Amino acid sequence: MSAESTQSAEAEELQVSEAQIAVHWKEESHYYPPPQFIGQANASDPSIRDRFSEDKFPECFKEYADLLTWDQYWHTTLDTSNPPFWRWFVGGKLNASFNCVDRHVRTRPNQAALIFVPEPEDEETQAITYRELYRRVNETAAMLRDYAGLKAGDRVTLHMPMVPELPVVMLACARLGVIHSQVFAGFSGAACGGRISDSQSSVLITMDGYYRSGTLLDHKVKADEAVARAKEEGHEVDKVLVYRRHPGQYASQTPMVEGRDVFVDEIMPQFRDKLVDPVSLPAEAPLFIMYSSGTTGRPKGCQHSIGGYLAYVTGTSKYYQDIHPEDTYWCAADIGWITGHSYIVYGPLSLGTTSVVYEGVPTYPDPGRPWRIAERLGVNIFHTAPTTIRMLRKVGPTEPKKYDYHFKHMTTVGEPIEPDVWRWYYEVVGKGEAVIVDTWWQTENGGFLCSTLPGLEPMKPGSAGPGVLGIYPVIYDENGEEVPKGSGRAGNICIRNPWPGIFQTIWGDPDRFVQTYYEKYNKDPKSTDWHDWPYFANDGATQAPDGYYRILGRVDDVINVAGHRLGTKELESAAILVDEVAEAAAVPVVDELRGRAVEMYISLKPGVAATPEVEEKVAKIIETEIGKVARPKNVWIVPDMPKTRSGKIMRRVIAGISNFTDVGDITTLANPEVVEEIRVHVHEVKQAKGEVAKLSEKEAEEIKAFGQAE
Ligand code: WTA
Repeated sequence: MSAESTQSAEAEELQVSEAQIAVHWKEESHYYPPPQFIGQANASDPSIRDRFSEDKFPECFKEYADLLTWDQYWHTTLDTSNPPFWRWFVGGKLNASFNCVDRHVRTRPNQAALIFVPEPEDEETQAITYRELYRRVNETAAMLRDYAGLKAGDRVTLHMPMVPELPVVMLACARLGVIHSQVFAGFSGAACGGRISDSQSSVLITMDGYYRSGTLLDHKVKADEAVARAKEEGHEVDKVLVYRRHPGQYASQTPMVEGRDVFVDEIMPQFRDKLVDPVSLPAEAPLFIMYSSGTTGRPKGCQHSIGGYLAYVTGTSKYYQDIHPEDTYWCAADIGWITGHSYIVYGPLSLGTTSVVYEGVPTYPDPGRPWRIAERLGVNIFHTAPTTIRMLRKVGPTEPKKYDYHFKHMTTVGEPIEPDVWRWYYEVVGKGEAVIVDTWWQTENGGFLCSTLPGLEPMKPGSAGPGVLGIYPVIYDENGEEVPKGSGRAGNICIRNPWPGIFQTIWGDPDRFVQTYYEKYNKDPKSTDWHDWPYFANDGATQAPDGYYRILGRVDDVINVAGHRLGTKELESAAILVDEVAEAAAVPVVDELRGRAVEMYISLKPGVAATPEVEEKVAKIIETEIGKVARPKNVWIVPDMPKTRSGKIMRRVIAGISNFTDVGDITTLANPEVVEEIRVHVHEVKQAKGEVAKLSEKEAEEIKAFGQAE
């Protein structure tokens, strides 16, 4: 063998072994949907699979588009002339607010559209009928147009908690064609400010405070920080509209800024009973931007369209959430995340159902709270994330038994669910009566990508299921070779085809859009055939012989904490803002409740002493720059980071140390000796704190793969 071919054989072997990490777990058995569910399911006829088979693509999505009311019907289902900037339902015109509100006012004016459950249990629940929602959305749209001066195409940043004003504002924006960018309220003012300047929003809409674990938090203070941060980045905010959690009573310590800030409850009376015609907009006009953390640099503003997005979330809400107008549906996610946009607001309201909005912490004031809400409101569809399920199981394993509620359907989303936790969800929360869908998807995707069809396909604990209707997944290895179907071997999951819910671009950065999601597996950059443009999800997965996908987690360096995606680069950039810090590296650590938590490794500038104060400063700055969710479980000050000879920090090695797993081959490091020193210190402290994790094989594989994409 020539030296060259030996080398490439070695390279190939190395790549194959990285991409196709063998993952061993017990194959779980199937659970079949209860007959009473099948009888009433929206998707109960198996021919639905044929209607969405690949030979019917893209026309199959007409079925989703036809769930909407169009002002002008579209002429082209999918335009692929400028890949991968797909255009769906071209020629069509519609309004999202009309579809979620007006059309139901005609058919069911007095049915509740939203039910708001405040966190304090003694505060009244508010049922907002479709007629009342119509009135509020119109008045708010009039205020946004006539007071704030907003018009179609403008961006506005929302930093709102889980209160009904949030969906009202979103729908008011949609009515005008104003592009909303809602930032999760738990995020810091600084994080919000970065998103304001990136989206160039001239208006910020916020609330003075909201309840979290029994405390009325000061939230307005973050608005001042956000505006200051945006200004540092060269962007001015003209107006800050401040809702008050209790109208007339100001809950914040920070003064209102003259000429900039205004209390919404003081100006709204001017707009009483005002009606605003929904603006008829092209299907491809943007509906909203939702920021998501990525591998490098700033968060990415995922831009979603009106027509494609709304059709996709409506269709998937109907068939996968099994929503009927007469259901009472509760998705306990936050509207500040894509799950809330798609499956609290747009999908459920487009179908004309009743959607519950809960303000607070699920375990407040006690772990029976969610089940009391379900019992009292007659919730029959429940949707949450594994992290919440784990927490509820830990603090109240038998609570659900005490309450008389009955779910027909439950969802899990956001991170992989352990089969054991799945079974508790099924048996105890669902009382063995509810079907479960494990839905895999991302901010970028608009709606579900993998899930079982609840009335037709059996469930399997820990597996998301097959691609959903009209989605054709594939698993590729690092070289772009398809990993054999059903082989159980791991690789990178991709979607071979475009779909209506896919985001249109990264706001302001189309090159990054192409590079992050399409470059890796693109077959021909000049091709206008969608077959040449698989979507790279950046998640690892395996496919079992039954065709079900099991998602293994991120292959890039994103850490999924309780379902929140945190970019390692963002965490690290925050840490090095601390004066004493020279270098920082963020790694995931397996955490019983949150799935993953963040651990930071830092090295200090010469002459700086390692003190607990520095550790605290790092933890604190991550909270202020990113948010409390990101607060590291531990900050480790190390003499030096383990590095390759080219100077790259080996995150895989420190991730191994943090998780008590194999650190892998360290012989190629520039400084292999530090590894043992770090290990001894970290393990000693962790043992003393009782933080010794026992990882499953799957978790160990994920940790091993961490940082390898760099
Ligand atoms: C992970 C949330 C396993 C995955 C809707 C994905 C999941 C990231 C699942 C997206 C699931 C989401 N099973 N992993 N059912 N759902 N993920 O953008 O790694 O906040 O890439 O969207 O969460 O998170 P995002």
